[in-house]
Amino acid sequence: MLTAEDKKLIAQVWDKVQGCQEDVGTETLTRMFVTYPQTKTYFPHFDLSPGSDQVHGHGKKVVDALGTAVKSLDNLSQALSELSNLHAYNLRVDPVNFKLLGQCLQVVLATHLTKDYTPEIHAAFDKFLSAVAAVLAEKYR
Ligand code: HEM
Repeated sequence: MLTAEDKKLIAQVWDKVQGCQEDVGTETLTRMFVTYPQTKTYFPHFDLSPGSDQVHGHGKKVVDALGTAVKSLDNLSQALSELSNLHAYNLRVDPVNFKLLGQCLQVVLATHLTKDYTPEIHAAFDKFLSAVAAVLAEKYR
């Protein structure tokens, strides 16, 4: 359950990375593929070399979707419903991977925001990513 304070901090983080969101997306995916190579199995059709056009383009899509989520903190299920269908029914991504992507994103945010990525912001953003992961996993039966 996100508190009013969490929501404020989540929106703040997103605002702070406004100018470098595409880099954040690319770096998050690159980090995920290097740190957790098993995640690469979902992308056999991609050129996964660091910084490839496909990694960059996909990073942008993921970051845009998270931006939508940040704007829809009160109705995440509805806002991410199509993505949830896609990941569960079409892509069949094992939900454990959502946590891995979330961890990589947090490391990348910390490297960009340095001291501004305070423990309070870290805790709030962690709750946000857990909520997103829960929505993306809710269609699995
Ligand atoms: C596609 C978001 C996690 C695998 C997508 C798309 C978005 C997205 C926006 C594009 C949908 C479209 O083109 O209509 C997210 C978000 C995630 C997440 C917000 C978690 C926070 C993951 C993870 C994996 C994954 C952890 C696997 C390790 C894929 C694959 C595609 C995809 C394989 C299709 C790529 C393609 O062929 O273009 N995701 N995703 N996603 N996602 Fe995710």
